[in-house]
Amino acid sequence: MDAFIRGMPKAELHVHVEGTLEPELRVRLAERNGVELPYRTADELAASYAYQDLSSFLALYFSGMDVLRTEQDFFELTYAYLQRVHAQNVVYTEMHFDPQAHTSRGIAFDTVISGIRRAQEMAQDELGIRSQLILGILRDMSAESAMEALEQSLAYRDWIVGVGLDSDEKGNPPVKFREVFERARAEGYKLTMHCDHLQENSVEHIRQCLDVIGVDRIDHGYHVLDDEGLIDDVRRRHMCLTFCTTSNPSDPAPRRAAELKRALELGLNVTVNTDDPAYMRSYYLSEVLLNTQQAVGLSREQVAELARNAFRSAWIGEGRGRRTL
Ligand code: ADE
Ligand code: ZN
Repeated sequence: MDAFIRGMPKAELHVHVEGTLEPELRVRLAERNGVELPYRTADELAASYAYQDLSSFLALYFSGMDVLRTEQDFFELTYAYLQRVHAQNVVYTEMHFDPQAHTSRGIAFDTVISGIRRAQEMAQDELGIRSQLILGILRDMSAESAMEALEQSLAYRDWIVGVGLDSDEKGNPPVKFREVFERARAEGYKLTMHCDHLQENSVEHIRQCLDVIGVDRIDHGYHVLDDEGLIDDVRRRHMCLTFCTTSNPSDPAPRRAAELKRALELGLNVTVNTDDPAYMRSYYLSEVLLNTQQAVGLSREQVAELARNAFRSAWIGEGRGRRTL
């Protein structure tokens, strides 16, 4: 099974490029940019990556980004991720990036996206791995700030395939960004939203995604399983759910794996993804798939179905860029 999973061509649909910042690179960029870190070595940093819930995770994630300052930094971050997953036979990946987390620190949108794009092009030319970008909107910031990020993105329209919604879900429902996502749709972007780090309001947030926003995909979406109506609706629409089975520290991986198995058995279009691998014990796609398979005893056929679901649900051919698939 190990060889089968590692050797299988794979696609990833839910990863945050800033969440692939490994402690070693963080230390190197901190030295280069004269940024003070709370710990001196990569090992000490990695040991400090403990969190109890989404908000303590997000605090780590956003503070980690402080070392990313130049176009070259974003290039190195992205290239390192693409190189790493290429070695695991990931042949296609859709990466979220969070421009507001950088523009709010005084880093230009152009600096961020140009570095990422250069790495995407180089990785495609040199390694053959293809990738596309999803603009992540930070839902704990205002709808005005989201609209501004969307407008900034339009100058790079050909480099971005979709718009997503991430960061802290509590008190920030999908409908807060209704106009932003309507505009994104009108501009031709595909739409996705994170749903479900919450227990309360989860079903309601997923309903809003389906009925008000009209998303093309749901990131996470575990609580679909709590509601028979949602199960039927999501299945009927072949709506892709991007499960991340190492993702949320307050929801242990075995529980996520069990939910994944149930989703497969219900005939839902579910996929496995890594979310923020550098902060989640450096598990990339092969390890997450293998751990999930072992936790609940998925069959080879079920593992292959996960891979097929990802390729079928990828926004391949949706991008307008010269080099996108
Ligand atoms: N941004 C990066 N990782 C995230 C996650 N797991 N949930 C919400 N927002 C995120
Ligand atoms: Zn995510």
